[in-house]
Amino acid sequence: MSDGQSQQPDWNQIAGKFDLWLPYIEPVNRDLMASISISENDHVLDLACGTGEPGLSIAQAFGAANIHVTACDAAQAMVDVAEKKAEQLALKNMNFISCPAEQLIFSDQQFDKIVCRFGLMLFKDPEKGLTEIKRVMKPGASAALTVWSRPEKMPSMYWFYQAFKAFLPEEQLPPLKVVTSLGVGHALENLFAAVGFSHVNIERRNFDFCFNNVEALWDLTLRSDVMQAQFDAIDEKKKQIVKQSVFDQSAEFFTQNGLVMPTEYILVNAVK
Ligand SMILES: C[S@@+](CC[C@H](N)C(=O)[O-])C[C@H]1O[C@@H](n2cnc3c(N)ncnc32)[C@H](O)[C@@H]1O
Repeated sequence: MSDGQSQQPDWNQIAGKFDLWLPYIEPVNRDLMASISISENDHVLDLACGTGEPGLSIAQAFGAANIHVTACDAAQAMVDVAEKKAEQLALKNMNFISCPAEQLIFSDQQFDKIVCRFGLMLFKDPEKGLTEIKRVMKPGASAALTVWSRPEKMPSMYWFYQAFKAFLPEEQLPPLKVVTSLGVGHALENLFAAVGFSHVNIERRNFDFCFNNVEALWDLTLRSDVMQAQFDAIDEKKKQIVKQSVFDQSAEFFTQNGLVMPTEYILVNAVK
């Protein structure tokens, strides 16, 4: 049975390679950080921190303001990579914890700010995770979260999803459905209304997901192992057909600046 979770990469397995994607989604970090005003002495929680973003950037940018960042993710191996990066940067204002969002090990009303980039829609139970987020926020604290938008607004994953469709059953396809589950209809509005915040602002934003060419996108997808499960399930001949399909679908996004994919995500700012 699929709950959408089986299609996700094994985050512990790919932890050592996830950083390969970070430069491509950097514009989202800048947007997210600009949307939340960090104040002196704030205790910030970066939930679903993965290999450390946006927590590491916040700890660096606001270190002088005596802030502290707690970075937390369900996958211990992702947290380990993040912690190593903080050590290399000699950051003293961070700590690292592994636990699922649905069962945060923090006490009530602990944090002044919460950030979460591209995590919420992947939680097994987003409503429980968001309820936990609200529980650990101080009264008046604010949160900034991003999720991916509609499937057709996420071209690269959409192409892979379409290409694998010829060979794999729905439950083994790339996780387009779960990744965009809060980007469709009013899913996000309904989720935040169900949990209840004093103020919620939801905005669809765009950035260009850019590669020199489609070969570079293909290589990164293979090298980072994010679709390892899907490639393991097909033979070499089918892999070549998938490749051709991805290349064909990408054709209309070629520009003189390379492969430029306008991509939409949603930024949510909420106050407890
Ligand atoms: C797409 S990555 C984003 C990582 C990082 N925030 C970034 O933007 O670079 C999603 C992360 O969500 C984490 N995750 C998935 N389900 C989770 C859950 N239930 N609780 C906490 N983290 C979870 C995964 O382990 C993974 O590190």
